[in-house]
Amino acid sequence: MGKIILTGDRPTGRLHVGHYVGSLRRRVELQNSGEYEKTFIMIADAQALTDNIENPEKVRQNIVEVALDYLSCGLDPEKSTLFIQSQIPELCELTFYYMDLVTVSRLQRNPTVKSEIQMRNFEASIPVGFFTYPISQAADITAFKATTVPVGEDQLPMIEQTREIVRKFNSVYSEVLVEPEVLLPENQACMRLPGIDGKAKMSKSLGNCIYLSDTADEVKKKIMSMYTDPTHIQVSDPGHIEGNTVFTYLDAFCRPEHFERYLKDYSCLDELKAHYQRGGLGDVKVKRFLNSVLEETLEPIRARRKEFEKDIPEVYRILKKGSEAAREVAAQTLSEVKDAMKINYFSDEELIRAQSEKYSRSE
Ligand code: TRP
Repeated sequence: MGKIILTGDRPTGRLHVGHYVGSLRRRVELQNSGEYEKTFIMIADAQALTDNIENPEKVRQNIVEVALDYLSCGLDPEKSTLFIQSQIPELCELTFYYMDLVTVSRLQRNPTVKSEIQMRNFEASIPVGFFTYPISQAADITAFKATTVPVGEDQLPMIEQTREIVRKFNSVYSEVLVEPEVLLPENQACMRLPGIDGKAKMSKSLGNCIYLSDTADEVKKKIMSMYTDPTHIQVSDPGHIEGNTVFTYLDAFCRPEHFERYLKDYSCLDELKAHYQRGGLGDVKVKRFLNSVLEETLEPIRARRKEFEKDIPEVYRILKKGSEAAREVAAQTLSEVKDAMKINYFSDEELIRAQSEKYSRSE
């Protein structure tokens, strides 16, 4: 059987460059690699509601924003199925049956859920839907028989949970579900790109993101204000690379050919880093270089977004078509699941015959 990709994002805001290096760039490569039989990309609106119940309008408004970001990065509806989670009711049905295969204490041990509970001050009263979202995520993945789930490191516990559910289901019933593999970003910088303030992670609430839809001016301003090395005061001072946001971004975005185009004095990133560490290289020069590198990536994305923004109804048509196609696949899996569970009573002639024989004997 061919390999199948499924991944997705919660629509709670526009996507930023952290999403891009952490996942979007890779998805487009995978989509175009020809190695996968199918690629499913899901906008996880139902999952977004699990921790945004006071703010459903935010989720609703951001579906199209995420779709625009997908399309502008090069996800191609001809090659990938782009769909909206809530439009696939089969996922709820699968979730309900999977709930029997997971214990409360197992969910409580999930590190991602744990830290999200803390972050959202849910300690006192955790919404049940939020608590169980790892189970619903297992439904998302298994409904499409995904073999490969490209996500960030924070999603590892979800994939592990999914694998356990698959093993449990297959052993209790029969081998219907597929155990997925995770596909992580290629390097540490891509794994968790820091915000422009040097804080651990880009997040909308911290206001430290560079969005894919930011204008060239906005991106430049943000880069010029980026956190670098607070001990690197004079150009001549030796500088530090570790924890220096500008260099972390270069690790994530820079390729050797960028030096030829924008900074001929150096041949590669290691040379630039060495000079910075020795002293004599100013932050502004490095920031200008980063700006050129980032613009080379962002400009085509921005231009494609402008095109798609001209026809929003078409974006919804793409999502509708994708959701219909995704639903067919999920329905097929659900029917196999119900067959394995032997709960398709009305078409179960064997069951009906055996029980009628039992009662005709006892007459
Ligand atoms: N949990 C993911 C996130 O927060 C979104 C998501 C929902 C997802 N279902 C998924 C990712 C299935 C991969 C596979 O970004």
